[in-house]
Amino acid sequence: MRTETGQVIRLADYHPTDFVLERVDLTFELDPTKTRVESRLIFHRREGVDKRAPLMLDGDDLALDGLLFDQIEMDAAQYTATPSLLVIRDLPESAPFEITVITTINPEANTQLMGLYRSGGIYCTQCEAEGFRRITYFPDRPDVLAIYTVNIIADKAANPLLLSNGNFLGGAGYGEGKHFAAWFDPHPKPSYLFALVAGDLGVVEDTFTTLSGREVALKIYVEHGKEPRAAYAMDALKRSMKWDEEVFGREYDLDIFMIVAVSDFNMGAMENKGLNIFNDKYVLADPQTATDADYANIEAIIAHEYFHNWTGNRITCRDWFQLCLKEGLTVYRDHEFSADQRSRAVKRIAEVRHLRAEQFVEDSGPLAHPVRPASYREINNFYTTTVYEKGSEVTRMIATILGPKLFKKGMDLYFDRHDGEAATVEDFVRCFADVSGRDLSQFSLWYNQAGTPHVTVTTDYDASAKSFRIDLEQMVPPTPGQPNKQPMHIPLRFGLLSAKGASLKASAVEGGEVSGDVLHLTEQKQSFVFKGIKSKPVLSLNRSFSAPVILHFSQADTDLALIARHDNDLFCRWQALTDLALPALCADTKRILSGETAADHPALIEALLAIASDDTLEPAFRAQALSLPSEADIARDYGGNIDPDAIHAARQNLLKSVAEKGHDLFARLCTELATATAYSPDAASAGRRALKNTALLYLTLAEAGPARAAEAYGKADNMTDLSHALTLLAHYCPETEETQAALANFEARYSDNALVIDKWFSIQATIPGTDALERIRTLMHYTRYNAGNPNRVRALIGSFAFSNPTGFHRADGAAYDLIADEILAIDKRNPQLAARLLTSMRSFAMLESNRATKARSALSRIAAAQGLSNDVQDIVSRMLAG
Ligand code: TRP
Ligand code: ZN
Repeated sequence: MRTETGQVIRLADYHPTDFVLERVDLTFELDPTKTRVESRLIFHRREGVDKRAPLMLDGDDLALDGLLFDQIEMDAAQYTATPSLLVIRDLPESAPFEITVITTINPEANTQLMGLYRSGGIYCTQCEAEGFRRITYFPDRPDVLAIYTVNIIADKAANPLLLSNGNFLGGAGYGEGKHFAAWFDPHPKPSYLFALVAGDLGVVEDTFTTLSGREVALKIYVEHGKEPRAAYAMDALKRSMKWDEEVFGREYDLDIFMIVAVSDFNMGAMENKGLNIFNDKYVLADPQTATDADYANIEAIIAHEYFHNWTGNRITCRDWFQLCLKEGLTVYRDHEFSADQRSRAVKRIAEVRHLRAEQFVEDSGPLAHPVRPASYREINNFYTTTVYEKGSEVTRMIATILGPKLFKKGMDLYFDRHDGEAATVEDFVRCFADVSGRDLSQFSLWYNQAGTPHVTVTTDYDASAKSFRIDLEQMVPPTPGQPNKQPMHIPLRFGLLSAKGASLKASAVEGGEVSGDVLHLTEQKQSFVFKGIKSKPVLSLNRSFSAPVILHFSQADTDLALIARHDNDLFCRWQALTDLALPALCADTKRILSGETAADHPALIEALLAIASDDTLEPAFRAQALSLPSEADIARDYGGNIDPDAIHAARQNLLKSVAEKGHDLFARLCTELATATAYSPDAASAGRRALKNTALLYLTLAEAGPARAAEAYGKADNMTDLSHALTLLAHYCPETEETQAALANFEARYSDNALVIDKWFSIQATIPGTDALERIRTLMHYTRYNAGNPNRVRALIGSFAFSNPTGFHRADGAAYDLIADEILAIDKRNPQLAARLLTSMRSFAMLESNRATKARSALSRIAAAQGLSNDVQDIVSRMLAG
């Protein structure tokens, strides 16, 4: 149990440790319930530190079994041990000394999945952010870097495999039925990057030769029998290693790189030095069991964790406030990698959709916080979309402002200057200021000010002067703890189009700074005047989404239609369609709420169908264009007093109109895009499947019945098509025989594959409507449900709460009560998972008052419960205060 719940940690209070840790020598004697950990630590007192200052070591739920000073048992008077702290007094003034700490821990009983735990008979660890202190007393903070030796002793038959960070030193038999292995990691690292894995696993092996000619052994460990499903992950790993050499000049630095897939994991994956540990969902794939989205996620996450080797491991964070230094930068790197491996424009559209659906929501609600927060109560709750995705966007803006050459120079300087260090955001930004000579102090507000900036745009064309003026005004909304904001440096890529859609050259400029195709908005209000513009142009602004802002720009529908048809920035073409659709959907929502019928939208539908039928465009883009704004997108745009049922009705109505008008086109696309060739997960093939499946959705709507989808289900030869057909059946024809038969068939066919059964749960959890709650209750009591497995909980409860607006927000509030009960139950086992589920209610205040009141009372009930974890307490109190 944590004892210091509710304590606030502040960035301003940072100071280095009193003692410097030189070496770590760990010995684990593994046992499912009684693992003995012996930790030998060599310290010396930091220069200038008070000679009487005690050594303080962090613990979490620990019991001390032995304590030695230079190999001699310590006098009990010299130290104090509680489950969360070990204080040792009367230590040498400057000479190095050795402390040996002995603890016994119970991996089997570790349901939090932090520290050393068991998953499917395997011993594994998760130490970020503060899991190492659940293994042994230690200075468990990221600025304590040391070199580790790890010895693992375990039963040989049950654990043929004994792994840790770094390079393998050797191993041998060790008494009766046991063996041991020793590992040495030459690179100094913080404790959060420590990892240990032991058990019996299958392996896929390969090698990679680095740029300088060193051969690296690559190993991916998975459950026996699943080796063929790790082939794609291995391929993605090799492509990541090559890309990082080519694009960032970063070579791998050990003899071996290992990945282990486990089935119980709180997050996606973890970048432990030389020994990444993954949620098996992001390793295992084959055409029969993984969708195109799964393949894309695997590629991105394998890359992300590998890229951490430099951005995170070689250069780590001084403290947890600097989390975006490794996460934002590494997400930027994995986004660029995927853009290079796939279609850059389609990848960007998907990123922006995700950013708006998650980060913009977080940034406008009670949990809003800066990319680099100034304080926290529970660090686990700051692994957020703001730190990750907005952090990535901030890095992208640095690249936009500096241009590719200077950005590369700044990155090189960062790697050079800070290798082996625990750095800060200031260190990072200074590298770019130094190589460019630019003052980035105003830009740095992006790290410290929360809230998504709003930018209002007006334009004016003066035909006689042949000049075009853009007036911009920015506003950063107040967020918790930050009522007043300063103007930010917002880089907006732009282009001017002629009435025929041709690109216009924008020559002389007056007003704010323009460099190349980037407008630099730096003041609260600023104008940019372009001379020599012969006819009234159409402005295409925030191309490629160069800045994560909300634009308020009432462009005429005809201008939007022109951009949608002709812009050479594909992102803006997609955005223009969205800008046409969202106001239409919001207006329809209002009509439905006042008892009227929704309007027809001929121009919008025509624009959508024009893109859909344009064979010169890549299919993946056409699929993106055809998938209308989601219900959550509409809710955000609607602005408050939200009725999810009306939004659902408005969206369904527009989908049906598109389906009817485009019936023949969709039928043609379904036939033309049905390939006879074998499945390949590449981006182009995935794009064709995405367009075909979008067409199938519209056909299902137009034809109102299960026939099409049932036929597609029967014909599917890969999981992308199969799960899509099942989703259409379940969501649009839930009570039909065809759907019941398909659900039963799917379950029986994949009963031995947990990751596919997760899909079966989540497809059913997202069936819209009031009945959803009953379905969730039934599924929760089904034998296949397992409240101890995070993937399964997220598949059922998470999908329901995050992705089923009409079901979750049913008007009587009954679903809020269910989620409250579940969160309280899960909190007892796994606080991190419970806190994450709780964030599904972060926008409750935006709901219409009846629902908002019911949601608030469910939250109040959680807040009032006894024995809440620090994780849940922190989130619920911020949600209720905001
Ligand atoms: N650092 C991991 C990443 O690559 C995130 C992570 C994995 C994590 N497991 C965790 C964070 C557990 C907190 C707790 O993004
Ligand atoms: Zn990461």
